[in-house]
Amino acid sequence: MYTVEAINLTKKFGEFTAVNDVSFQVRRGEIFAFLGPNGCGKTTTIRMLCGIIVPTSGSGRVAGFDIRTESDRVKEHIGYMSQRFSLYEELTARENLEFYAGVYQVPQAKRQPRIDDLIAMAGLEGRDGELTTNLSGGWRQRLALACSIVHSPPILFLDEPTAGVDPVSRRRFWDMIYELSEDGVSVFVTTHYMDEAEHAHRVSLMSAGRLIACESPESLKGSSIPGSLLEVECDPVVPALELLTAIEGVKEVAVYGSLLHVVVEPSEDRPAQVREALESHGMDVRRVEAIRPSLEDVFISALS
Ligand SMILES: Nc1ncnc2c1ncn2[C@@H]1O[C@H](COP(=O)(O)OP(=O)(O)OP(=O)(O)O)[C@@H](O)[C@H]1O
Ligand SMILES: [Mg+2]
Repeated sequence: MYTVEAINLTKKFGEFTAVNDVSFQVRRGEIFAFLGPNGCGKTTTIRMLCGIIVPTSGSGRVAGFDIRTESDRVKEHIGYMSQRFSLYEELTARENLEFYAGVYQVPQAKRQPRIDDLIAMAGLEGRDGELTTNLSGGWRQRLALACSIVHSPPILFLDEPTAGVDPVSRRRFWDMIYELSEDGVSVFVTTHYMDEAEHAHRVSLMSAGRLIACESPESLKGSSIPGSLLEVECDPVVPALELLTAIEGVKEVAVYGSLLHVVVEPSEDRPAQVREALESHGMDVRRVEAIRPSLEDVFISALS
């Protein structure tokens, strides 16, 4: 059964189309990552699904409710951590949870045990009496997540929840996401971090309002042809990039840390040709090797 369904969703702001004919489904317990450049329409899509803004055309169902006609019911059944989530700075961590338990009308008898569970889940034991303003980024993010699920929603929308958070804190945040997913919660999450997208069950990529891919990370990476991506370690990098862009059989070149990733028309002697082209211009070539693409390669290729 699908918990989130978008059918030809479109949103226009005046003449500008922010979301253009987007359709997808999310299953129970699925972690669905939503990726794409700044301004491509991720937040707008989430806001339509959460019943906050009305689509210009198309439709959607969330937790079985129509996002147009039953937006109040939708809001009762979701957790939403927006890109600019708000915690009350002058309240303690526990008081924030109590506040949100009130907003979401968690029954009185259930509030304290639920809040205790969430404090444990967020790893906030012993710190729940601290003022929120004194908590650092990673703690705040986990507290915000805890606040957004205080009413135990079956569906969770997270809009760039880990932006600006250090890697260890991001890992701890994702441990919470896995736990929720194992309990059957559908998690719809936007991110700019490829390592996070690798850990989703399915990844969709948006570009200029359109959905251009929606598959598992494995199948996205597997869709490229073997031998079509070469990794090149050479010096100097930038002139090598310019040179390679111009040679036959090369489709795309991108800088990848201190390396180059070169998309080529696959052929057995392609690595040797690339090496020869660089060496004939006096460049120091340490390695040319066919590799399997990472998710980042797939996306850069899809977006260029
Ligand atoms: N209320 C609005 N009125 C006019 N234009 C808007 C409005 N909301 C969003 N937009 C525009 O729609 C486009 C999509 O915005 P959106 O916030 O959905 O992008 P995003 O993918 O979430 O980007 P980011 O990664 O930066 O968060 C942008 O060009 C934005 O300027
Ligand atoms: Mg956004």
